[in-house]
Amino acid sequence: MENRKKVIICGGTGFIGSHTSVELLSQGYQVVIADNLSNSERDILDRIETLSGHVPIFEEVDLTDEQACDRFFERHSNTSAVIHFAAFKAVGESVNKPLMYYKNNLQSTVNILRNMDRLSIPNFIFSSSATVYGDCEELPITEKSPILPASSPYGKTKQINESIIEDTFKAENNLAAAISLRYFNPIGGHLSGELGEVPIGPPNNLMPYITQTAIGVREQLSVFGNDYPTPDGTCIRDYIHVVDLAKAHLVALERLINKKNKSFYEIFNLGTGNGFSVMDVIKSFEKMAGQKLNYTFAPRRAGDQAATYADVTKAKNELGWVAELSIDEMTSSAWKWEQNYRRNLS
Ligand code: UFG
Repeated sequence: MENRKKVIICGGTGFIGSHTSVELLSQGYQVVIADNLSNSERDILDRIETLSGHVPIFEEVDLTDEQACDRFFERHSNTSAVIHFAAFKAVGESVNKPLMYYKNNLQSTVNILRNMDRLSIPNFIFSSSATVYGDCEELPITEKSPILPASSPYGKTKQINESIIEDTFKAENNLAAAISLRYFNPIGGHLSGELGEVPIGPPNNLMPYITQTAIGVREQLSVFGNDYPTPDGTCIRDYIHVVDLAKAHLVALERLINKKNKSFYEIFNLGTGNGFSVMDVIKSFEKMAGQKLNYTFAPRRAGDQAATYADVTKAKNELGWVAELSIDEMTSSAWKWEQNYRRNLS
């Protein structure tokens, strides 16, 4: 039977939000996307519709605007859950514009939670990040690893948001339960090549920098540091395919809706549990794209840790979710999207 439960996706036209919208719509959920399009294009909505076969409801709304947020939620009070992706996410930019990050990333969460309580919308899923662990040196990182000072205002907004959520769901109110999902390094795109990441300006992250270099938008990739204490000297990260990540949101949503959660606030790491070096990613890309990448070794980037990767046992045991797609599927889908996206631009 078709499931028509309504779910609000804040930031649903962004990179992870759009892939999650496709998964939920494909499973029969009614999806309401709230997004101010500050870091995404409206045509993502058509792509979501084409891939899922269903039309999401879309409202262009700035969730930091208290009144606009209230009116939006009043129009959609019969909702089972909210998934909150709407946030600024550039680490370097957050260092230069901290207030912009604190205002945007915190005010939206407060406005959303206040409305959920007011309108008795019970369930909440938060888009968190492994950045909350700070410079955690104990590997792999488990959900019980210490929360060390975050290295950027962006990271601090994720930490503070998690505290806001925990405190709010702990208090007596009309809310039921929340889950924070701590992503490691999401990359890749929909396997069709019809959906992916669209960074504004020069990308800060590795994968879009690789694909933009390969397609000729950037001249050369700088590999930041080849003297780290890792097997090939380059940094190790736990890259996770965005489609696997999107599916984890669906599983978390069903856990909350079916009241399978074990407490009012749960946290899960989302990664593959495997670390790949920058050179591993480049080699996978070259193999899948069938071309050499123009790269050079450059000095270390400030703030980078030598290695981070997740312990994903909790997600496996509790959610029954494991990442299924390989590093080759990550690099090939990112490349497919880059080619498709540029073709449509020209
Ligand atoms: N890298 C390069 N060249 C580039 C870009 C990145 O060599 O042009 C390297 C980085 O030095 C790092 C690796 O590629 O070793 C991955 O870098 P990303 O910027 O892609 O990812 P990060 O691990 O730095 O960032 C991720 C998330 C952030 C989060 C951060 C800290 O994307 O949202 O982890 O947890 F804040």
